[in-house]
Amino acid sequence: MTRLTRIFYVSKAQIGSRLQTVSDILAVARTFNAEHEITGLLTYDGEHFTQVLEGPATVLDTLMARISADPRHGRVRVLARKPIISRDFEDWSMGYLHDGRFNDAVAGLLAESHTDADEVEAFIGELIHNKRFIR
Ligand SMILES: Cc1cc2nc3c(=O)[nH]c(=O)nc-3n(C[C@H](O)[C@H](O)[C@H](O)COP(=O)(O)O)c2cc1C
Repeated sequence: MTRLTRIFYVSKAQIGSRLQTVSDILAVARTFNAEHEITGLLTYDGEHFTQVLEGPATVLDTLMARISADPRHGRVRVLARKPIISRDFEDWSMGYLHDGRFNDAVAGLLAESHTDADEVEAFIGELIHNKRFIR
């Protein structure tokens, strides 16, 4: 059985200052995701990525393995993976938010050795709250 699942991770970007790389990632992501019932949001603050991925668990886990191995980022920390009842980003095969204001919060999430589930959910809540800015 493949359940609707959500994964959230943070990572350290390794793309220098090449914003074109983010466009390249989004182009590939949007094509693949649209064909595989995956929706979500990618954020970039100039130093880190965060990504919410929603979709069938099996597809999501295979994709997450590919994303984790991608050299365009490192220190990939999966902070949440859980079944969900409904999607929060159903309108986006992969939405994108470029916002430097996430920097401190994401640096914290990336640095912590333990995972504070409430903090993670609060951050995801903040992303959902920012939906109107998604491209
Ligand atoms: C931060 C980041 C987010 C990504 N998000 C996705 C995504 O949502 N969907 C996707 O298909 N590929 C995504 N990719 C690209 C994958 O890592 C990978 O390049 C792509 O799936 C093609 O895999 P392949 O080169 O093994 O064919 C992302 C890459 C990075 C660095």
